[in-house]
Amino acid sequence: GFIHLADYRPPAWRIPSAELQFELGPDATEVTARLALSPDPAQPGEALELDGEELELLAIALDGQPLPPERYDYDGRRLRVHGVAADCTLETRARIHPAANTRLEGLYRSGRLLLTQCEAEGFRRITFFADRPDVMPRWRIVLRADRAAYPVLLANGNPVSTRELGDGRHEATWENPHPTPAYLFAIAAGAMERVSSTLETMEGRRVELNIWAEPGDVARCAYALGAVERSLRWDERRFGRCYDLDVFNVVAAQDFTMGAMENKGLNIFNARYILADEATATDADFLAIESVVAHEYLHNWSGNRVTLRDWFQLSLKEGLTVFRDTEFSADLHSRALKRIEVVRLLRSRQFPEDAGALAHAVRPDRYREISNFYTMTIYEKGAEVIRVLHTLVGEAAFRAGMDRYFADNDGRAATLEDFLAAHAAASGRDLAQFARWYSQAGTPELHVTDAFDAATGDYTLTVTQNTPPTPGQPEKLPLLVPLRFALYDASGRAITAPPEADAVVHDGLAELTAPTHVLRWRGLGARPLPAFNQGFAAPVKLHFDYTVDQLARLARLERDPFNRWDLLQRLATDALLGAAHAEAATAALGDALADLLADASADPAFVAECLALPDFDTLAEALPEVDVDTLVARREELLDRLAEEQVEGLQARYDALADAARGGLGGEAMSARALRNACLAWLTRLDPEAKLAQAQFDAATTMTERLAALRCLLHFQAPGADAALQAFRDAHAQDPLVTDKWIGLVATRPDPEALDEVQALMATPWWKPANPNRVRALLGSFARSNPLGFHRRDGAGYRFVAGQVVALDAINPQVAARLLGGFESWRRWASPRRELAREALASLEGKLASPDGRDLLQRLLG
Ligand code: ARG
Ligand code: ZN
Repeated sequence: GFIHLADYRPPAWRIPSAELQFELGPDATEVTARLALSPDPAQPGEALELDGEELELLAIALDGQPLPPERYDYDGRRLRVHGVAADCTLETRARIHPAANTRLEGLYRSGRLLLTQCEAEGFRRITFFADRPDVMPRWRIVLRADRAAYPVLLANGNPVSTRELGDGRHEATWENPHPTPAYLFAIAAGAMERVSSTLETMEGRRVELNIWAEPGDVARCAYALGAVERSLRWDERRFGRCYDLDVFNVVAAQDFTMGAMENKGLNIFNARYILADEATATDADFLAIESVVAHEYLHNWSGNRVTLRDWFQLSLKEGLTVFRDTEFSADLHSRALKRIEVVRLLRSRQFPEDAGALAHAVRPDRYREISNFYTMTIYEKGAEVIRVLHTLVGEAAFRAGMDRYFADNDGRAATLEDFLAAHAAASGRDLAQFARWYSQAGTPELHVTDAFDAATGDYTLTVTQNTPPTPGQPEKLPLLVPLRFALYDASGRAITAPPEADAVVHDGLAELTAPTHVLRWRGLGARPLPAFNQGFAAPVKLHFDYTVDQLARLARLERDPFNRWDLLQRLATDALLGAAHAEAATAALGDALADLLADASADPAFVAECLALPDFDTLAEALPEVDVDTLVARREELLDRLAEEQVEGLQARYDALADAARGGLGGEAMSARALRNACLAWLTRLDPEAKLAQAQFDAATTMTERLAALRCLLHFQAPGADAALQAFRDAHAQDPLVTDKWIGLVATRPDPEALDEVQALMATPWWKPANPNRVRALLGSFARSNPLGFHRRDGAGYRFVAGQVVALDAINPQVAARLLGGFESWRRWASPRRELAREALASLEGKLASPDGRDLLQRLLG
């Protein structure tokens, strides 16, 4: 059944403190929990109920007295203790089985480590507890284990003591002084080594920073450690937030369902977001590591110190923390390139989610399984909504609002209303209409038309907004949309006079609040050229009927790199989808790219972004119905043609940047590699022997260069592809993260036959269905990034993925549910694919045991 936001009740019992003792072992671990319990005076007489999932209850005592069987019952999900009404201490002892835990929720084994993942509701798989974010005890955690197998014992908070126990066992005790919900609980045990440093916070606290990994991996942790230091300093500088414990521990794990987890003082990471050196990680990997490290670190305030009242508020920590981590990356590197990366992700993944069967609000009002809401909408759209607020109130008021939010809610479990109240107070604005961004699903669309009266010189822009219906939300209200605009006169100068408007307008920004607004300028000498949504300040789809000449002219007038990139994306989209003027758009795009390739002063990484045309998903999202073959074929034709036209510029830039690209993680070298790799991919289209790619593969000194070359060899089926793949595979056979990379390349070869290779790999030892990274590398890449394979005309791609969803659902339901999400847009796929996808989905009915899988399937078929 559904859980509804409207049904929220505060916890009937509080847990001011909790002490846990673990007798750790991979096959069986015993957990003793001593909970101080206190009834909420406002809800007297409520029964005492705790969550507990698949626990083997060994003993239970109340205030030191063993409880007789008639005083409690446990049905495998809930523990009820009868006849308690006042403050008391409950002690339970339970047995769990880490090595058998393939769901990777709760306590599980990864390699030789024992680790936890509790968010959202995994803690109940460790011990009996009120597993909800508004129950926040102070914790004391005692770990005991065999010293030889588990020399390092980590938990939340500060280390307080260690001792030897005899029998080869030892013990470590940790205390977390900050009130912390159970979803932030963590322990990690095993043979780990570390890199570390110490620094002093702005408040004068000395903090030890450690990154822990299995012994062979510790040499690849240095970059992540630097990223922690940079994150800590940035949060001090930009938000005035300091770290608040004596140690900050980070652990890298090869088996991890998501990216990483912000457990208080003990972040646990998917190893792919920690381990890196230039021989095994690409430049993109380094940047992703820095941004995920920052994300988890920044949660210490946005999520941990101020936590969530309930899971409906998830975006209150996730959207806010994504906003914070993207600002971190923008401040440290290129703001424009970061914005391009974020907008690409929004358009290719979040917009389709918001338009498909799984669309939901940034704050949903009901859910069946919260694990299915760790989505692009909660994270990325949630961050965009924070950015809308930032745009509306400006940096100074935004910072004041954040200070107030942190001050008013420190140590509390907050709601979106608390967040809005702090910002409303700090900015003096009424945020009631802004709040609709949180409750309405779907991507708003703005339609803009213009009119010029040559007699009077009056120029008007008419802006209408609407948000299409989404599942369960047929009608939508107008949102508060900050629309940036600019007008250029015939000589290319910006017209600075503000318009007359039925909306608040300031500094080239109109605050749209109604379904329609009109902006009017009087007495202009000639029809100006308008531009909109600079910096993508509003996360909307904007429609304005530009001619190709206008777009090309704007692309030259705009100085801001993000806006120039966006205009080239628009030209490319018109070239691919705009039947009427596709030819003219292609020509204009070619001219613009030729200029960029010839411009030695342009940042090469920016030029590389301009060469990367909108991907399949982004283009599909612009179409009412998707004909997969035609769309892929058009995109390939355009790329072939542009490559032919630009061959000299591409080759010249590729050669000219060879020295700059040589080694090192400096911005200039990374930028040079980005453009060289983009050029290489285009040039390989014209080179059936793929000589250039082969040469780059053979000579590469960085993974960035080697992997890009290997992709070209494999995807264009070059003569040397098999040999190169084998050499790469053998060189990295011991490294699961690099193995994932070549597997991902095989799974994304743009060819319907890629399915055969994916299936062939599943019959080898490379296939490890219990390892989430491996599943994503093979099946996730196939379902999400191989349109020709997944959407095979015979439906074999759909049937194959559906079959794997069934198999994986029994191992790790969250991984299976992600894979199933690949069907979210199925209703828009042109026949016969729609019917084939429907059949594949229907074949799953009755076959998925997990709540995750069942919830998703129901919503997909809805
Ligand atoms: N809070 C984590 C993060 O964003 C993600 C946890 C995901 N958990 C889950 N059950 N999906 O950093
Ligand atoms: Zn997060």
